[in-house]
Amino acid sequence: MRSAVRPAARRRAAALEQYHLRAAHYDAELAAFEPLRAEAVALLALQPGERVLDVGCGTGLSFELLERGVGGRGEVVGIEQSPDMLQLARERVAAHGWRNVTLVAAPAEEARVHGKMDAAMFHFTHDVLRAPRALDNVLGHLKPGARVVAVGLQWAPPWAWPANLFVALAALYSISAFEGLGRPWDLLARRLQHFQLHTTLLGGIYVASGVAR
Ligand SMILES: C[S@@+](CC[C@H](N)C(=O)[O-])C[C@H]1O[C@@H](n2cnc3c(N)ncnc32)[C@H](O)[C@@H]1O
Repeated sequence: MRSAVRPAARRRAAALEQYHLRAAHYDAELAAFEPLRAEAVALLALQPGERVLDVGCGTGLSFELLERGVGGRGEVVGIEQSPDMLQLARERVAAHGWRNVTLVAAPAEEARVHGKMDAAMFHFTHDVLRAPRALDNVLGHLKPGARVVAVGLQWAPPWAWPANLFVALAALYSISAFEGLGRPWDLLARRLQHFQLHTTLLGGIYVASGVAR
């Protein structure tokens, strides 16, 4: 019997193709989700001088808020595997003249970051959250007690069918496999302390937070 889970290499190739096609109009598509981004960054409770990881940073839409949190003495480290998305992130960093944003061009499974981080954000990064190797690698770069926040799509309860229609369409467009869409955060929850979860959009979007061990 064939496994329902696609091998990692095929999933990665699918994700790279997805974001190759999407990169140019990605920022406009995400406009409606900006309040969630602000909520996620607020939950990170960043302090001046801290170092924060933006995992699957895409075009760098979170950088401005993260920069505001850590200030000029802090650092924002974006990890991104799609060359197309990363190029736009690079252009954003250059346009703002941010000198304390480091971009790591690598899958989250393999990314290497200098030193330990104070916080990490996973904003609409389902594929990363469903990859145990990626989670272990990213969380291994955090200080004990570092704050972690994840936001993304999940299946809503069956009665909330309009939300599930939205989740299905958005997922088709943005993730490489539907595996784990019922509880996208469960692998992360097992690896954190003080895990908390709430949902919005009739249950179709989760906001999860916790603290690194
Ligand atoms: C929906 S976008 C979210 C981008 C950004 N976090 C935001 O909120 O705008 C998902 C991003 O995760 C990246 N991604 C997916 N799998 C990844 C992996 N294994 N390692 C690093 N980046 C990954 C994709 O290339 C894409 O840029």
